[in-house]
Amino acid sequence: MADNSSVTQSRDDMTPTPKSTQTGAPIRRAKNILAVASGKGGVGKTWFSITLSHALAQEGKRVLLFDGDLGLANIDVQLGLMPKRDLNDVIRGRLALDKVIQRYDEGGFDIIAGRSGQASLAALPSQRLALLRDQLFEVSSQYDIVIIDLGAGVERNVRMLAASAARTLLVALDEPTSLTDAYAFIKLGNAAGQSKNVGIVINQAANTTEGQKTYKTLLKACENFLRLSPPLIGMIRHDSQVKDAIRRQTPILKRSPNADAAEDVRAIAKKVIVEIETLKKNAKAAASA
Ligand SMILES: Nc1ncnc2c1ncn2[C@@H]1O[C@H](COP(=O)(O)OP(=O)(O)OP(=O)(O)O)[C@@H](O)[C@H]1O
Ligand SMILES: [Mg+2]
Repeated sequence: MADNSSVTQSRDDMTPTPKSTQTGAPIRRAKNILAVASGKGGVGKTWFSITLSHALAQEGKRVLLFDGDLGLANIDVQLGLMPKRDLNDVIRGRLALDKVIQRYDEGGFDIIAGRSGQASLAALPSQRLALLRDQLFEVSSQYDIVIIDLGAGVERNVRMLAASAARTLLVALDEPTSLTDAYAFIKLGNAAGQSKNVGIVINQAANTTEGQKTYKTLLKACENFLRLSPPLIGMIRHDSQVKDAIRRQTPILKRSPNADAAEDVRAIAKKVIVEIETLKKNAKAAASA
């Protein structure tokens, strides 16, 4: 278990982020977009994004899963799909974003696939990314919930997409590097006033007690050094059926619907639905006031 000093790593974290750097241009967030992020890679973002989309679809929601891991896309790989159209067609100006949506019948949701190993996507200038984000905002009106599977790390493009979501689900594990990188993600976003939408998902927890401990370690660092208290959105237990489902390129909710990890993601989906519906209601009330 990492302690606070290893989460925050350096002494300069003892200084809270200055108030003046927390302000800036207002952030435009879409009420029904959720981004899935992590500092460290390989923590389970793509698997979680797919499974959450599937669970939300099973609850009767219209869901779009967007592969926002620009340049290293792998939603299609985990699901064994061969997309005929993808984000590369959009970036090259060949197709509008809504024309690359494909139906994933097995899961009951829609997908916008990325393209792995495409340098033009990985190095997208921020103005082009802002255009893509605006197109995604437009497309999002056709759905109840849109999930963005982000690339790992803390670079600007990742944080820009995370900031445009109503909620960023930051996935972390009980490993010092994962917690340190999750903290760095929150800290960098906080400096730009972008971290208020972050909620934590602890993945691969040994059990509920250990998952709580991991969350508390991260929470303490955020409270002490950033004056932020990101809520715990959920915990997912470590489960050998996850690897098995990925290896077989089959969604876990189909292959092992009663697995612990499947049950945990379904619980998160229920929570997410309540949160999105509350946000939508509040926005409606504010608009008619
Ligand atoms: N709850 C879990 N229990 C067991 N193994 C898990 C769990 N969640 C994820 N994994 C393992 O983590 C691996 C990485 O998952 P995934 O590719 O979804 O991570 P990622 O965060 O999207 O990675 P990247 O940062 O490279 O995009 C999976 O292959 C799976 O074996
Ligand atoms: Mg991934």
